[in-house]
Amino acid sequence: MSTSTSTSGRSGAAAEAGAEAGTAVPPPECPAHAAFGQGAALTALYGPEAQHDPRAVYEKLRAEHGGIAPVELEGGVPAWLVLGYRENMEVARTPMRFTRDARFWRDWTEGRIAADDPLIPLIGWRPDVVSYDGEEHQRLRAAVNECLTRFDRHGTRRHVQRYANQLIDGFVQDGTADLVSQFAAYLPMLVLSRLVGLGEEHGPKLVEAIVGMVNGGEEAYARNQYIIGTLRSLTEERRKVPAHDLASWFIQHHSGLNDEEVLNHLRLVIVLGYEATTNLVSNTLRMVLTDPRFRASLAGGLMTLPDAVEQMLWDDPPLLVCPARFATHDLQFAGKEIREGDMLLLGIAAGNADPQIRPNLGAPMHGNRSHLAFSRGPHECSGQEIARAITDTGVDVLLNRLPDLHLAVREDQLTWTASTWSRRLDALPVRFAPQRRPVQQPAPAAPAASAAVEPSAAKHALEALEAVAEAGGQARTDTRRGFRASLIGLFRGRP
Ligand code: HEM
Repeated sequence: MSTSTSTSGRSGAAAEAGAEAGTAVPPPECPAHAAFGQGAALTALYGPEAQHDPRAVYEKLRAEHGGIAPVELEGGVPAWLVLGYRENMEVARTPMRFTRDARFWRDWTEGRIAADDPLIPLIGWRPDVVSYDGEEHQRLRAAVNECLTRFDRHGTRRHVQRYANQLIDGFVQDGTADLVSQFAAYLPMLVLSRLVGLGEEHGPKLVEAIVGMVNGGEEAYARNQYIIGTLRSLTEERRKVPAHDLASWFIQHHSGLNDEEVLNHLRLVIVLGYEATTNLVSNTLRMVLTDPRFRASLAGGLMTLPDAVEQMLWDDPPLLVCPARFATHDLQFAGKEIREGDMLLLGIAAGNADPQIRPNLGAPMHGNRSHLAFSRGPHECSGQEIARAITDTGVDVLLNRLPDLHLAVREDQLTWTASTWSRRLDALPVRFAPQRRPVQQPAPAAPAASAAVEPSAAKHALEALEAVAEAGGQARTDTRRGFRASLIGLFRGRP
């Protein structure tokens, strides 16, 4: 496979002209280009070739450049992709040299990135825990971690079991299902909606907005604005009437978050958690169904489900590439000249597959947690235990309810959609012996305050997906339509 290359960077009028023509081709004399790769061609991390087989792109870059390579993002924006495991660890762990603070980003400070650039919601500076280092980061991270732990202590697994069972009830009679659209895409959203505290008043377009923003493209900026508006309303309401949810806990936390900080951290949890956890659930289900080693091991008790989840976090991490770090000064790193303000991207999938630490990619990792999937250092993922709980509890419930579950298509018929940042399974069609749908069980006991918000959050989330599907005018299978109708009926209390 050949890799697309370009000698572009993004620069003023040329970038605008390129954007009008559907491509971004700034002039070769652009200073952004000269800074990267000492004049070498930049390899595109977007477009059909990179999306078709991102790992092939990483291996080609590794062979050519070693631990770090010059690449180009959508719109011709230059960056360094960190490929080596050790190099990723070093970049993630040394904020004095590689900061998370996007105000160091030279292409942005020198005016080459427009305020509504699709990269801004992902990479641009925001007043949140991701964007700071040092003392301010510690203050915000303490609030995020302590509030997430509070949710965890109040029973993530109990919520996951309940929502997973409700989702399975929706298709258990059919004998067939698509585990991506009918299970993996719903489960994290239900749990995270419950966590954040979304209520009736927030519009059903929220989920559409999250998916659209994560997918990038022209509407990413507008969708980010929509998410922010919705969470701003939630924050204002919880200031007046607290409930048992993350929005209220952020407001009450002793670190004194202001309203902007509260809403930015709610946004962060939803956006970071939703897609990555959906990918992890889908990937783990695929592995359990297709890899005879794991199927046999699970049945024989040799490998636990949490082990299988860690294996996926090594082999198929939910985020392929993590944005972003910025060099705080000119420096030499992994044999390359890095200039102050250069952007570096953590190559999570590339680092996990580094032959220096994994000479045999087929060897099982036996629950080893030293992969890069949740990153390392001061910004290591705060929600990783919640993501693990959603995944292993959700998959466990599914395997227990449908023990004869098997793939309904050949493994080589499965397809993926990839962007620069992640790669997600399109569908996972399965068959199983149909079962009668159980009579709806009463909800497990929950803390009084949370019981008041929980059903509306779940119903809201499901209606949101329903509305998204209708608004998008996408063709959907009869199975999926029937599934959504039965689920919404379930939450409305219909048998
Ligand atoms: C499988 C699912 C998930 C994956 C693979 C994942 C991965 C990551 C990664 C790679 C980072 C960036 C670290 C860096 O810049 O070095 C991160 C940060 C973060 N994640 Fe996750 N994440 C997942 C789920 C979640 C969930 C469910 C939540 C919340 C409930 C969450 C909350 C956060 C927060 C708050 C940060 C920012 C931490 C900081 O900057 O100090 N994540 N995550």
